[in-house]
Amino acid sequence: MNTVQIFHPSELSIAAQALKKGELVAFPTETVYGLGGNVFIPEAIQKIFRVKQRPLDNPLIVHLAHISWVEELASSIPDEFYLLAKNFFPGPLTILLKRHPRVPAMVSAGLPTIALRMPSHPYALHLIAQAEVPVAAPSANLSGKPSPTTLEDVLEDLEGKIPYVVDGGRCDFGIESTVLSLIGKKPQILRPGVIQKETLEEVIKKPISLATTKKILAPGMKYIHYSPRACIRLFSDLEELQQYVNSSQKKKILLSCKPALFADQLPSFELSAKNLYFYYRQADRWECEEILIFFDESIKKEIGLWNRIVTSCAEK
Ligand code: TXA
Ligand code: MG
Repeated sequence: MNTVQIFHPSELSIAAQALKKGELVAFPTETVYGLGGNVFIPEAIQKIFRVKQRPLDNPLIVHLAHISWVEELASSIPDEFYLLAKNFFPGPLTILLKRHPRVPAMVSAGLPTIALRMPSHPYALHLIAQAEVPVAAPSANLSGKPSPTTLEDVLEDLEGKIPYVVDGGRCDFGIESTVLSLIGKKPQILRPGVIQKETLEEVIKKPISLATTKKILAPGMKYIHYSPRACIRLFSDLEELQQYVNSSQKKKILLSCKPALFADQLPSFELSAKNLYFYYRQADRWECEEILIFFDESIKKEIGLWNRIVTSCAEK
């Protein structure tokens, strides 16, 4: 199969028609690229799992172009959903509700819940609106690899395996959406992301808890995510980093909160959510053996970014 690349919005309707009929289309969102399929066609959902080599117990996020679509996807929708949607849709927030019985269970890996989000990237919104169906879409990478943030990343993993990919340039945020559960008594963040807990609390005027990594509530979180081939080493002490850089002969890059400090010794880039997966993948292309990360404590406040860093250095 040839993967047709779509570079211009005027061609989106071709991909939208294919999507509607059950073909897979990779598309840009403001967070990372997604691999989309029509939520109501079980064969399309099966294809997503197969193409990504994704474990069947890891549920998918369903993407909407209109808030009114939620009624055919979820039941017992609480008022808080509409309040959050009004404030954060379209945008990098995914909300977990009770799944409507008409949605194939496979979408949610058999769970009684469904994760919903409305992306803000204009190409994503146009594509989904033109397809006129909700679109189940995990990140458009092979399972276990860092999520794709450019067209090149998507092609590296999926070229020849899907019929269409839409080019939307580099993704703005670079890490995946915040996943917030409205199931149960207390709202809970299952996956931290760009939108912070406090920002959500201000809107719903209620405390939100943060799922600990020990207790796995978002099934995907139990798999090692976001991992490049290169080994990741973390440094918070400048002297230690300097010593390591001086002594190690390995081919490496540095992602740093102070990139200018080492720029004359090795390729050094700013440590940010937007750069994280982008340079993980670049490092692998450049055949680096190591990615050094130099951070200060303030980075831990960016919970989404910190979570991805920690998860990607988990033991393989
Ligand atoms: O920013 C994003 O969210 C991107 C773009 C493409 O929208 N999508 C994304 O999808 O990151 P994926 O499949 O890579 O991650 C989905 C996460 C997983 O951790 C999964 O377990 C969780 O959402 N999730 C989805 N449905 C769920 C459910 N019913 N219950 C609990 N967790 C769920
Ligand atoms: Mg993913």
